[in-house]
Amino acid sequence: MKKSFLALVLTMSATVLFSQDIGLSKPPAKLGLDVLDAVRARVAARAFVKRDVPVADLSTIVWAGNGLKATTDAVSAASKAGGTYPVSGDVNYVNLFVMTAKGVYRYLPEINLLKQVSTKDARGSVTSENIATSAFMVLFTYDSTRLPVFVKGNPAAGREMAMGTASYGAENIGLVAAGLKLASIVMYNLNPAAVVEAAKLPKEEMPLFIMQLGYTQ
Ligand SMILES: Cc1cc2nc3c(=O)[nH]c(=O)nc-3n(C[C@H](O)[C@H](O)[C@H](O)COP(=O)(O)O)c2cc1C
Repeated sequence: MKKSFLALVLTMSATVLFSQDIGLSKPPAKLGLDVLDAVRARVAARAFVKRDVPVADLSTIVWAGNGLKATTDAVSAASKAGGTYPVSGDVNYVNLFVMTAKGVYRYLPEINLLKQVSTKDARGSVTSENIATSAFMVLFTYDSTRLPVFVKGNPAAGREMAMGTASYGAENIGLVAAGLKLASIVMYNLNPAAVVEAAKLPKEEMPLFIMQLGYTQ
């Protein structure tokens, strides 16, 4: 009994000591470019200049990709969603992860945290098109248990809905990244089994697609 208590305490302290969660900042009020300028500035690239992204900019990008707004609109005010893009139903079924050289992180928008789920650099395993010089990778997944009831029992329809929804997040990311001088590329080319392992996905959570982001100069 005593031994197992000690083991539990040691495990908990190890988690506290070695877990490298990333606390995120709030997005700025403005990026200083017009929405039409952002649409024009969004650019895809497969070649990057290696440079780390500041946590403040990473915070703004993931917020655009799956964050929560302080205010809800007239429709979603009736629900709990209130996200930076529209979802079907009352809850968001899309999840976002960040993958870097330092590990894999689940974005927890309610507490504005990137929760480390692995210390491995898994980017090379999840796609054969990993760009080593990217600043970071974003992974979109969906939780099949949170999909609206009218697609339950129809996995293909559920996946189609989740893909469509996550694409709004991807576009938000592309636009905001452009405002922060990062290029981005969407990639559907991934290895689902490797994603499940890398992000430690529970069985009800499925991979969708990735984005790679980085600086071109
Ligand atoms: C849905 C979708 C899936 C894509 N999948 C891949 C991919 O697996 N590998 C890849 O190199 N590029 C992929 N791309 C990138 C495109 O091939 C293309 O280079 C990019 O979207 C061009 O963007 P631009 O028109 O803004 O220049 C994908 C793009 C989209 C929209």
